Order: sequence, then structure tokens, then C-alpha cells
Amino acid sequence: MWLTNSSIGRKVIMSVTGIALILFLTFHACMNLVVLFDGESYNTVCEMLGANWYAVVATIGLAVLVAIHFIYAIVLTLQNRKARGVSKYAVTSKPEKVEWASQNMLVLGIIVVLGMVLHLYNFWYNMMFAELVNGGMPFINEVQSASDGAAMIAYTFKNPVFTVLYLVWFAALWFHLTHGFWSALQTLGWSGKIWFNRWRVIGNIYVSILMLIFVAVALAFAFCGGCCAA
Ligand code: HEM
Repeated sequence: MWLTNSSIGRKVIMSVTGIALILFLTFHACMNLVVLFDGESYNTVCEMLGANWYAVVATIGLAVLVAIHFIYAIVLTLQNRKARGVSKYAVTSKPEKVEWASQNMLVLGIIVVLGMVLHLYNFWYNMMFAELVNGGMPFINEVQSASDGAAMIAYTFKNPVFTVLYLVWFAALWFHLTHGFWSALQTLGWSGKIWFNRWRVIGNIYVSILMLIFVAVALAFAFCGGCCAA
């Protein structure tokens, strides 16, 4: 099948899964925005996304998307390296027009994945997984209920090491997503001379807004324990 056998097909798979993940992130950012205003409302959303069958199905779907995106990223990178062959050693200067993020998508992707592992441990493991296997009690003693997302966020960002690690993760995500956004649209054919630049600007603004929401949550809880939500 051309989707899996050809280089362009694989890029289409990367693009579609990438866009789906950006849509998830949009939902997640909107959800997190709530915690800046009202902790109780945030916990109501967390309860809806707890150990309910539809939330578990969505989590499995999300995990499949991430796995496909990640595996194809590695396949495409290896394929590109192979195609370049020995000639890559002959190149001493980097092309000026190629973005830094474009050349470092795999490294950025690895930081993104490491941050995701930390994040899933902090939140998914102590919330959804705890609800599924631990009778609604998180594995962290300081937080009383696995659906108390606001308390879990306060617990996480009270630790400055976590705050710094999360900020590094957000920065890597910003580079990864701003490049991925227009690159995906270009692969899918929504591009021309004029639209190439327009998509870049739209993507940069869109991704910046998403990431600023995550940064705002982290900093609000790091510096005043989410005082605005209390
Ligand atoms: C300040 C930033 C963030 C906070 C406070 C936060 C908070 C949370 C919380 C509370 C949950 C558990 C929700 C529940 O099961 O009820 C969660 C799950 C999750 N978060 Fe985040 N998140 C943040 C940033 C991110 C980012 C940047 C990503 C992706 C790049 C992400 C990906 C996920 C994923 C994949 C899950 C699991 C979703 C599922 O179980 O279906 N989060 N997050």
C-alpha cells in the first residue's frame, strides 16, 4: 500500500497523526485553562475523564496515535539518512534556509517523548491508572483523591525541579510543533508560494498560544500555588 510503502505515504501518516495530536493538545490546553480560574470546575472535568470507559478508549486511541507518529518518525529519519548515504559526510556547511527545528526534529522529538514519560507518570499514572487499579487513591500520599487534578498540579509544580523540566519540555514542544504544523500542511498539499508563509505565521501564533497556556498554569502553581484558582 502506497501509504506505508512510499516515502510520501509515510509523510502523510506522520502529518495526519501529528495534526490529530495538535487537536488533542488544543483540547488539553482549553481544559487546563479552567484550573487557572476554578479548581473545583477543573476537578469536575478530571472526573469526567477518569476511569470511564469512553475516557479509557480515548486514552488507548491517543496512545496508538503517539506510537504511529513516533515509529514513522524513526523510519523516515533512517530512510533519509540511508538515501543521503556517504554524501552526508561531504557536506560541511548547512543550508541557510533550513530551520534549526527542521534539522533537529528527531532530537526535539526525543525530548518531547522524555517529557511525556515524566508527565504521564505524574498525571496519568497517579490519576486514571490509580482510579483503575487503586480504588481512586493516587500513589502520592499528599493528594487525597485521584480525580483531584488541581491538587495534583499544585503538588507537581511546588517542586522547582519539575517546573524547570516542564518548561524545557514546553520549549522543545514549541519548536517541534511550530515546524510540524506547516510541514504537515505542506505534505498534505495545502501550500503554495503565498500560503507557505501564511501557514507558518498561523502555525507559530496557534502553537504559541497553546504553549503559553501550559506555561501560565505551570508558573501560576509554581509561584502562588494556583492562588487564582482557589
Ligand atoms: C501545565 C501543563 C499541563 C498540565 C497541568 C497537565 C495536566 C494533566 C492532567 C491533570 C492530566 C490527567 C487528566 C485526567 O486523566 O483526568 C493529564 C493527562 C495527560 N496529559 Fe497533560 N498537562 C499538561 C501539559 C501537557 C502537554 C504539553 C501534553 C502533551 C504534549 C500533555 C499530554 C497529556 C496526556 C497524553 C495525558 C493522558 C490523557 C489520557 O489519559 O487520555 N499534557 N495532563
